[in-house]
Amino acid sequence: MQLFIEKDYSAMSKKAAQIFADEIRQKPNLVLGLATGGTPVGTYQELIRKHNEESLDFSKVVTFNLDEYYGLTPDNSQSYNYYMFENLFNHVNIQKENAHMPDGRASDIKTYCKKYDNQIEKSGGIDLQLLGIGVNGHIGFNEPAEELVVGTHITDLTQDTIKANSRFFDSADQVPTKAITMGIGSIMKAKKIMLLASGKGKAEIMAKLLNNNLVTTKTPASLLMLHQNVMIIMDEEAASKLKNL
Ligand code: PGA
Repeated sequence: MQLFIEKDYSAMSKKAAQIFADEIRQKPNLVLGLATGGTPVGTYQELIRKHNEESLDFSKVVTFNLDEYYGLTPDNSQSYNYYMFENLFNHVNIQKENAHMPDGRASDIKTYCKKYDNQIEKSGGIDLQLLGIGVNGHIGFNEPAEELVVGTHITDLTQDTIKANSRFFDSADQVPTKAITMGIGSIMKAKKIMLLASGKGKAEIMAKLLNNNLVTTKTPASLLMLHQNVMIIMDEEAASKLKNL
């Protein structure tokens, strides 16, 4: 595992975007796994800047998003489909047909989820997967549990996640209670994984993850410790409770 501790959110975002840009320049048809939430916004802004000012070319890049709220249509401003267009896709030259996102309207969920995993496989698999981390250690919407699901699936959000995500809604009761998410296996199949963590609010979970040397499904992100190519990029606030640095 590679650990980078950057001064603040801006430095973390720049570091992440630089690694993305280097990978895209090395392999123009890179397959990216993308994440939503507050954390990656700065990375996406920096990628847009690199597209505009440094000719970073997304024309052959393929993307698969981690998750989507179940029941939200892509034109709903709270949906992750909407977020991706607002925060990245509308501002770079990605081919819209290369940008894949789970569909919150899917009806035959089981078949739909299988198809999503098959599409990832057919594309050659994810080269670089971007992840945020929930305060409860979730990645995507793989929430702490006795058992974790391997492939893409529909899941119930925990109260912790509903509370954390309510900041993007008018109130907690407007946060959808279900989501479609890549499974822990879909994530672990990525060739490289980059996890970002920023701010004091993430210090506790990052300490749990990095101080203990333990793997448990109760902290889904801890499974990443079993992956052979993980980068963690965090800012000093998120790293403030780490020991033995
Ligand atoms: P955040 O969410 O980036 O908004 O903190 C991360 C997550 O829940 O995975």
